[in-house]
Amino acid sequence: MSALTAFSLFTSSTHRASKTTTTSSTSNTNKNKKNSSSFVVCRSQKQQQQKTSASSEKSISLLAPSSSKNECIHQIAAKSKAPPPPAATGPTPTQIAAGVFAAAAIGVTARKAMKKKAKKIVIAGAPASGKGTQCELIVKKFGITHISAGDLLRAAVAQGTDDGLKAKEFMDRGDLVPDEVVVNMVKSRLNEPDCAGGWLLDGYPRSASQAEALSSYGIEPDLFLLLDVPDEELLERVVGRRLDPVTGQIYHLKFFPPPDETVAKRLTQRSDDTEEKAQNRLKVHHANVNAVLSKYKNIMKTIDGNRQKTTVFKEIEGLIKSM
Ligand code: AP5
Repeated sequence: MSALTAFSLFTSSTHRASKTTTTSSTSNTNKNKKNSSSFVVCRSQKQQQQKTSASSEKSISLLAPSSSKNECIHQIAAKSKAPPPPAATGPTPTQIAAGVFAAAAIGVTARKAMKKKAKKIVIAGAPASGKGTQCELIVKKFGITHISAGDLLRAAVAQGTDDGLKAKEFMDRGDLVPDEVVVNMVKSRLNEPDCAGGWLLDGYPRSASQAEALSSYGIEPDLFLLLDVPDEELLERVVGRRLDPVTGQIYHLKFFPPPDETVAKRLTQRSDDTEEKAQNRLKVHHANVNAVLSKYKNIMKTIDGNRQKTTVFKEIEGLIKSM
């Protein structure tokens, strides 16, 4: 029973009890005026008790406020020399007030939770525009589940799954992997439990058909972040990018060099991070991006990604906080 239900039950039973008291009082003499409420209720209950003691106790618990209820039960018990029954356990006014406050607090918490709803974000941009770098910072700050379409595909390639084998030739050329592979892969990942509280989708959708597929599953982002970086800058970023296979950290030989020799020695380079492949990835990006942007124009925020990564993040942080 909710606290509010308990409260309304209590007020109505109190109201009924006082009504009974008033009626009975008129039929009693003035000597009964002192303590009239509990006494009269007791007398009335006692008379009923002479008929059946079980039903009298039941009606006491229905009619009297709990403090006088306990007194009455004990008076009846003393007269009948029966051992007193355990004190009635109905809610006291203090408990009811606490319940009402608790119910109000639950309401406030529910409203706060609704306000702090799941964050559903897409981050887009050309190859090497800094999507992965910003996602690292977003995850660190907000703890949102990060899903990178490129990482899902690379994992499938590494595992040698059917999807991975199909995807590999497209990735090696820097072309988009066909929808039949990538759409279901992303959809399944979004349905995993860790996405229930929100998600950060990196590099998906990249075409009109992928955006339509998302909508058809009822999956809609609330914020679409677009990192804007000039092409000439992107090529330098691509060829200088290195990955730490131990920590997953993204480095750049010039812009974010590894901290020491040990880390530097274990860095790897993606097979599609050559200038030639990057040129094709850029071409594919430009051919598809406008269709995606027009789909999300109402929730899109374009960010100048050609600044220090911490400066870029500051702007993104503000946007996510205001969601
Ligand atoms: P994917 O892995 O997604 O590659 P991408 O989109 O080309 O993006 P990148 O991962 O190369 O770059 P990024 O924007 O994450 O930049 P990063 O932060 O690393 O996709 C790979 C392939 O998979 C695709 O080509 C395609 O074949 C396939 N694929 C993926 N999604 C698909 C989809 N939806 N449909 C079909 N096929 C799909 O930064 C890059 C470098 O720049 C780093 O070295 C970094 O340190 C540096 N850097 C970052 N920020 C800054 C900054 N502010 N200043 C200076 N340097 C910076």
